[in-house]
Amino acid sequence: MKKLRIGVIGNGGIAKYVHLPAYKTMSDVEIVATCDIIPSRMDEAEQIIGHSLKKYENYEDLINDKDIDAIDICTPNYLHSIIACKALKANKHVFCEKPDAVSVEEVKKMEKAAKESDKVLMVMRNNRHLVTAKFVKQYIKDGKMGEIYCGRCGWIRRRGIPGRGGWFTTKAMSGGGPLIDLGVHMIDLAIYLMGNPKPVAVSGSIYNKFANDSASSDSVHSVFGDAKQDGTFDVEDLAMGFIKFDNGACLQIEFSWASNIREETNFVELRGTKGGVSWSPNNYAIFSEENGQLIDIEPKGNLVSNGHAANLQHFVDVVNKKAEPDYVIGQGVNMIKILEAIYESARTGKEVLL
Ligand SMILES: NC(=O)c1ccc[n+]([C@@H]2O[C@H](COP(=O)([O-])OP(=O)(O)OC[C@H]3O[C@@H](n4cnc5c(N)ncnc54)[C@H](O)[C@@H]3O)[C@@H](O)[C@H]2O)c1
Repeated sequence: MKKLRIGVIGNGGIAKYVHLPAYKTMSDVEIVATCDIIPSRMDEAEQIIGHSLKKYENYEDLINDKDIDAIDICTPNYLHSIIACKALKANKHVFCEKPDAVSVEEVKKMEKAAKESDKVLMVMRNNRHLVTAKFVKQYIKDGKMGEIYCGRCGWIRRRGIPGRGGWFTTKAMSGGGPLIDLGVHMIDLAIYLMGNPKPVAVSGSIYNKFANDSASSDSVHSVFGDAKQDGTFDVEDLAMGFIKFDNGACLQIEFSWASNIREETNFVELRGTKGGVSWSPNNYAIFSEENGQLIDIEPKGNLVSNGHAANLQHFVDVVNKKAEPDYVIGQGVNMIKILEAIYESARTGKEVLL
């Protein structure tokens, strides 16, 4: 079997903890090259993969390496669209970490580059690939929840600011705070489970109250990104909002890196005419009614799964024509339109029509 030859660009947290270990277990992938502006990170990548890799400090050189079939982008957000467009033009398949891009203008460039190429472009949607999400998706598809007409989703942290002062908290490099960082995960899953209705209007508010907070983190998820003493913090730490869809459905959203709540949670809750669901990454419960009685359905057993690894394998399967893509860049364009419009609504104080 011919292996897909992949080069990974950006060897920080997500590459080190998630992508590289996942690729190492895949029989149809060979990691051949690595790229980072910090050379020691490429050595770490080599150690994780367990054999020598071509090392590039300039991502353009990796993109132009004829020996590589596909590029995996694990850099700060602002580079996603720039690298993806160049890689597609150089005839490479592209897998990219979330968020798709930092603005609608940039994500549309990705869409155009993907349309002009016959290569695969896929952006990480790891939650869709969790076993809990797959169950709920099928349950809704089977019509068992009836018409889904509203929902709530969020990822709220008490203290969990990634890389304070570094690229995560610098708008020009990240595109925003928890709304773009965490919102893309949960809003995507909610909309996916709802059957991809088209967003038509949003409103939202954002706050920045914890830029100088000194409390220690209580979130295992804040290990990402390098902190920078006296760096920039010009993004929100909390976003609240409301999205309306063309089918009349609505979604309430809530995302924080820091806020005074009991504890961190991430959730999608959907309500349908026949049933409702409360989902978290490793569990779910369904609330319904049968023969005049209210019933709850709860799964048994261990439901922990690795959605990131499953998403990466899905990308490889799509490239190898073994699977139809469950993500298309049009969904990414809609996602970034929503996020940008929430920032716009927060700025103007008005609802924004999409
Ligand atoms: N799907 C998830 O659950 C998840 C979790 C964490 C992060 N992410 C995403 O992954 C991406 C990376 O996040 P991270 O936490 O690994 O950040 P990080 O800062 O730890 O890693 C980014 C790496 O990119 C490198 N880099 C910066 N500019 C570069 C350039 N021009 N060329 C090559 N390398 C360059 C940096 O040196 C660093 O090693 C972000 O887009 C983030 O949103 C996704």
